Amino acid sequence: MQRTLAIVKPDAVAAGHTGEILSLIEKHGFRILGMRMLRLRKEQAEGFYAVHRGKPFYESLVAFMTEGPVVVAALEAEDAVRKWRDVMGATNPANAAEGTIRKRFGSSIERNATHGSDSPENAAIEVAFFFSAADLL
Ligand code: RTP
Ligand code: MG
Repeated sequence: MQRTLAIVKPDAVAAGHTGEILSLIEKHGFRILGMRMLRLRKEQAEGFYAVHRGKPFYESLVAFMTEGPVVVAALEAEDAVRKWRDVMGATNPANAAEGTIRKRFGSSIERNATHGSDSPENAAIEVAFFFSAADLL
C-alpha cells in the first residue's frame, strides 16, 4: 500500500466541487486516512511549493493557493501516487484526458482543481506537512 496527498484547490472548493471530487476519490478505491479543510497561510503555501520557488508562476501559484479554503486529504491505495495523478489528469486542463478531474473542473494551467504528490518520497513529506501520525486512521 502506498500513500499520496490530495488537495482540493481553492478554485474547486469555491465552485462547490469538493463533494464530487471526494466522491471520485472513494469511487476509485482510495482509503481516506485523514482529511481537513483549512486556508493556507502565505508561508505555508510558499513552503509547500518550495520546489517551484524562482519559477515564473511561483508568486501567482502562492496567491492562488491562499485565496480561499482548500481540502487536504491523505489517501492510501495500491500505487496511490500514480493512480491519483491519473484520476486528476494533466497539469494543464487543456491537455487532460476526457473524464479526468482537471478536464472536468480545471479552468487553466494554474487553476486546475486538485493537487497530487509526484513521488512516494514527496508524498511522505507532503502528508507530514498537514498531518501527524496520530491524525491518520
Ligand atoms: P500539483 O503539484 O499541484 O499536483 O500539479 P502538477 O504536479 O501537475 O504540476 P507542477 O508542475 O508541480 O505545478 C504545480 C502547480 O503550479 C501551477 N502551475 N502554473 N502558469 C503555469 O505555467 C503553471 N505551471 C504550473 C499549477 O497549479 C500546478 O498544478
Ligand atoms: Mg507537482
